Amino acid sequence: MSVSPDINSPLALKGRVLTFNSGPNDYDYWEKGCVVIENGVISAVGEVSSVTLPEDIQTIDHGDDLIVPGFIDGHVHYPQMGVIASYGAKLIDWLNTYTFPEEAKFDDQEYAAATADFYLQESLKCGFTTAAVFCTSHPQSVDAFFFTAEQYGLRMIAGKVLMDRHAPDNLKDTAQTGYDQSKALIEKWHNKGRSLYAITPRFAPTSTPEQLEAAGALYQESDDVYVQSHVSENVQEIDWVAELFPEARSYLDVYQRFNLLGPRTLYGHGIHFSDEDIRVAAETDTSIVHCPTSNLFLGSGLFEYEKLQKAGAKICLGTDVGGGTSLSPFATVKAAYEIAQFRDFSISPFEAFYLLTLGGAKALHLEDKIGRIAPGHEADLTVIDLSSTNLIRHRMKRAESLADMLFAQIILADDRAIRTVYVNGGEVG
Ligand code: GUN
Ligand code: ZN
Repeated sequence: MSVSPDINSPLALKGRVLTFNSGPNDYDYWEKGCVVIENGVISAVGEVSSVTLPEDIQTIDHGDDLIVPGFIDGHVHYPQMGVIASYGAKLIDWLNTYTFPEEAKFDDQEYAAATADFYLQESLKCGFTTAAVFCTSHPQSVDAFFFTAEQYGLRMIAGKVLMDRHAPDNLKDTAQTGYDQSKALIEKWHNKGRSLYAITPRFAPTSTPEQLEAAGALYQESDDVYVQSHVSENVQEIDWVAELFPEARSYLDVYQRFNLLGPRTLYGHGIHFSDEDIRVAAETDTSIVHCPTSNLFLGSGLFEYEKLQKAGAKICLGTDVGGGTSLSPFATVKAAYEIAQFRDFSISPFEAFYLLTLGGAKALHLEDKIGRIAPGHEADLTVIDLSSTNLIRHRMKRAESLADMLFAQIILADDRAIRTVYVNGGEVG
């Protein structure tokens, strides 16, 4: 898999086009649409008849396929590709039995680079063009990831896991080494090309107060870096956090006490939040990443989508592989839909596609760059075959509205539906 070399020559893509402007109910859909790309950036979009094409422009006609902004995965662990589908454990046992032994292998940079490449290829095949990615506690696992992502021209957020207690010795850092290594990685990778750095304390139980304090200080002192972690995923984990941090009001409050909430902070899960936690998340502009396939697989709980959304919290979706069971955007939104059904709420098809695109971009504070098909936005695009299987073709004959067409894709489609992907204006093939 590689990116076509001629990304600087102008390109026009024709097909159906769907893009959101502000929220899930504010979108543009052109049945016969056209997207013009110049120098990796979208320069025009609209109904074919209304777009003036530069003379001799190379044109690719995607026919009845649907062109959408490249999908955004708000939470994933690339080193866990090998432990996806590991049997019979809930969070803490799953980490100790499967995940930590696998992550220990990432002190080998070649192993890390091969896994990063495999993850990126699989994720691209599923239509994701941006992700917020956990590496391991080894700095070389971060170098391997960003170096590989750069080869594909991808906009990626990633960081070194900080973990100085309650983990095997071969995965532990210290408050000081974790801080120093993260700082060096920020200098090396943050804003280099399309790469962005996230300070990554794994979760409160595996960091001492000293390490969380250092992570909070680094976030506060650095210009526009990210923070990513886990919060309130599993009830056993929550009890453990209450024992480790008895002074904190809640699990989320631990992070607030260490100055780790705010813009560009991304917290996976947030399942067992109190109303106060939800209010704090919304008020501090902290993004909550809903990881539905993981929550089902690890039996963690049923996310309260409607409550968080009504409170104005920024929500996006994460695959959370390898706790999550799929890199597919369709499997992920399908699981989100099913979980919401248990909470007597139906996530609309527009909301689902919004979460995967502009909603994800807003949660990542990147809405001025990605997540929309609009002039000035980076040209990351995913092209969907709306009839990718016999069953979908059969079902689509009955689809009478755009909403119904999208819903059929969410429930029935898989990676066979991803016709192709454009990254920074170049087709990945
Ligand atoms: N909490 C701490 N680490 C992890 C992880 O790797 N996966 C999930 N799902 N939860 C976590
Ligand atoms: Zn995770």
